[in-house]
Order: sequence, then structure tokens, then C-alpha cells
Amino acid sequence: MKKIDVVLGMQWGDEGKGKVVDVLTPGYEVVARFQGGPNAGHTLIFDGDKYVLHTIPSGIFRDGSTNVIGNGVVIDPVILAGEIAKLETAGVEVRSKLVVSKRAHLILPTHRMLDAASEAAKGASKIGSTLKGIGPTYMDKTGRNGLRVGDIVSPHFMERYGALKHKHEGLLSQYKDFKYDIAEYEAEWMKGIATLRSLRLIESEVEVNAMLDRGVKMLAEGAQGSMLDVDFGTYPFVTSSTTLCAGVCTGLGVAPRRIGEVYGIFKAYCTRVGSGPFPTELFDDDGQKMRDVGAEYGSTTGRPRRCGWLDMVALKYAVMMNGTTKLIMMKGDVLNDFDTIRVCVGYKVGSEELTYFPFETNEDITPVYKEFAGWRTDIGGVRKWEDFPAEFKTYVEYIEQATGVPVSIISVGPDREETVIR
Ligand code: GDP
Ligand code: IMO
Ligand code: MG
Repeated sequence: MKKIDVVLGMQWGDEGKGKVVDVLTPGYEVVARFQGGPNAGHTLIFDGDKYVLHTIPSGIFRDGSTNVIGNGVVIDPVILAGEIAKLETAGVEVRSKLVVSKRAHLILPTHRMLDAASEAAKGASKIGSTLKGIGPTYMDKTGRNGLRVGDIVSPHFMERYGALKHKHEGLLSQYKDFKYDIAEYEAEWMKGIATLRSLRLIESEVEVNAMLDRGVKMLAEGAQGSMLDVDFGTYPFVTSSTTLCAGVCTGLGVAPRRIGEVYGIFKAYCTRVGSGPFPTELFDDDGQKMRDVGAEYGSTTGRPRRCGWLDMVALKYAVMMNGTTKLIMMKGDVLNDFDTIRVCVGYKVGSEELTYFPFETNEDITPVYKEFAGWRTDIGGVRKWEDFPAEFKTYVEYIEQATGVPVSIISVGPDREETVIR
């Protein structure tokens, strides 16, 4: 059976999925997004240019590729149209390479407002959402109220849009202090709908399976990360979709036995943006150094990312649930200048030491660390495994041994070229 390979974030997002998909795409004809929406920000850097994609799959730069926005994705037409325009201005051919599932749900302007109102009402306990309307849109999907891409060609579309908007206005009126005006965004949104209508809208589950049957090589591109999964992440500080490998099946309509290689991407340390538990978070100079050297500021929101040591408890949990077959380590170069590198191998809760990821992850957790000697060398120029310093190899080999999964690609800089394939 012809299978689909998968790229997934193993941590709290921003692991470098965009770069990895870009590096892997020469081996694939199709790249497909299966969940999430414009809360994602995937960065690609090559030939001196930098691109950040939110909805469009990261295969779009490769000639002859097909890029699928699957049914599990939620789409803001304003953001999608903006992305297309930006790419076209940069000379990238988009329209012939992009297809959109009719079953993907639409983010309405009022979904964004509901996201903002809900977050404002939560005050200090806010999730730290990207405010793109992700949660409210998935709520309408599971609540069976949503509007889908295929609906935009219906003669009743405006009527249905009006009805859902009206419902949202009723909900918004309950947030007494929340003022909003969507007139301008709504006008842009309607233009975005026109752009969406001009794209090839398909029954993607049928085409995806037919392509796989024909032997077309396909890569699924995850958004967010395993620890932001709606079921297994640090709930409620999570996103609203299944970010795990299982999401590929529901988000593209492929059977579980169609899953091939599962590439799990992780940083040599850890970051998180937004609120929620982060056991290995650093509040000291080491954390600031990671943020500065790693340029850890959100690709979508510009917010500073929280930084900390690699968390093997969380990484092993992610590997377990995704069936990760190959690991890809990113940003080892950010740790070039550290004397000692720490890795969390357990969580101390009271007198107990947990080696699995527990239901409750609050401030009562004290990470148990294993220490490694830093390599104190610039590894940015390394292109072959043999050329890495011994300390770096020890670090990577420890991760392989602890997870039982080979680290098959190592990224040592943001550029496409700064990559070591083992
Ligand atoms: P994604 O959401 O998983 O695609 O990741 P983001 O694009 O949000 O964040 C990853 C950031 O790290 C981007 O700014 C990348 O350009 C950068 N990056 C990726 N790989 C490396 C690497 O190996 N080293 C360094 N220094 N930066 C990297
Ligand atoms: P990529 O694909 C990092 C985080 C938000 C917030 C929580 C919920 O670039 O890795 P949401 O907008 O989904 O309601 O926000 O999830 N979050 C991400 N963090 N990378 C992302 O995507 C993220 N998408 C959402 O910061 O904490
Ligand atoms: Mg990102």
C-alpha cells in the first residue's frame, strides 16, 4: 500500500516544521496541511529570502508540487488571500499548485471576535491564543454550525453567513465590556471569499487517496505541536485540533494503515508561546540567551517565546503517541555557547519521581535534570555527522537511546542549506 509520510512538531510548536518540510520536499510531489489554521507560522529561508506561511503548505515553493489544504484545516479567507498575494508578488506561482478541500471550515470575522472576547474575559487565566479565531471555529465545527469552503458556491451562502454571524453577535453581546467593529474586516473577508472561489476546490479525501494509489509521494505537514494537542496537550492551554499523527487520518481522510514515515521535529531545547505549564522553563540568563541567540519570537504574533531545557518526559510522551519513526533535531546551533546543557529526565512531584507525562502539570513539578558538557564550538558550518564535536554527538546519541528513535536529520541554522542528513 502506498503511504503518506508525516512531519509533526513534538513540543509546543515552532520546532521548525516549515524548514523541515522545505528540506524534505524534493522527495515529495504533494504536501498537505491537515489541521490548524493561521495560528501556525512556518518559516522558510533560502537564497537569502525569508517567507512565513500560515495556511499554505510549505511545499509551495517547489516547482511542479501540489499543495493541499485539507478538510481538517480552518481557513481565514483574508489571511489566505493575503498569503497568495504576497507569494505572487515575490514571483512564486501559487494558483496552479494549490488545492483546497471543500470540507475545510471557514473562520468568520465574528469567530475572531469571539476568540478575543473569550480571552479578554478569562483575564489572567487566558490561554494566550493567537486570536485568529481557531477555537470558536472548531467549536462551530463540532457543534455542527460551521460554514465550509464548499458552501461558498451555494446561492444561499450569504444567507447562511448572515445566520451564523447573527448567532455570534448574540454570543458576543454577553461579553458586556467587549466592543468590536468588524465592518472593515468583513469587507476584506468577502474579497477573500472571492479569491477562494477562484481556487481549485476539491473533494480532497478522494483526490488524496487516488494520488496515493497512483504512487504519488505525499507529505503531511503538521501545525502546532504534540503538547498543544486538544486531548493530550497541557489542557486547557492547548489549541483546538488534533496535532498528533492521528489528525492526519481525520484531517485528510486517509486510513491509519496509510501512515508511512513519521518525522518528529524537536528543538535541542524547548520553547512555548502563550500561557500554560512548561516544566523546564528558564527565567534566568540561560533562558534569555536561548531567546536572543535562537531569535525566539513568534512567527505569527511576534510575542517573545518562553524558553527552557529539553524535556525528555514530554518528548517521550510525544514519540509514544505519534509512533515517531525518525526524529529531527533543530537549532542545536543555539546552544553553541553553553558550558553545560541540561535535559529533564523526570518530574519530581512531592517525594515521587514521574518519568511519564502526568494529567496534572502545575507548578508543583520540579524537573530532574541530567547534565551534558557543552560543545563550545560553532556547529553552524557542519554538513556531515562525522564533523560534529564529540560533546554534540553524545547529546544526540543520548536522545536516540532515551527515545529509541534515530535522529536522522540535524538542523544547524535557519537556511535550507544548514542541514545535516545522516
Ligand atoms: P514552525 O512553526 O515549526 O515552522 O517553526 P517557526 O518557523 O515558527 O520557528 C522556527 C524558527 O527557527 C524560524 O525562525 C526558523 O527560521 C528558525 N530555525 C529553524 N531551524 C533552525 C536551526 O536549526 N537553527 C536556527 N538558529 N534557527 C532555525
Ligand atoms: P506553529 O504551527 C506555537 C499556541 C498559542 C496558544 C495556544 C492556543 O507555528 O508551530 P490558538 O490560537 O490555537 O487558540 O492558541 O496555542 N499556538 C502555537 N504556538 N506555534 C504554533 O503554530 C501555535 N499555534 C497555536 O500561542 O498558547
Ligand atoms: Mg511557528
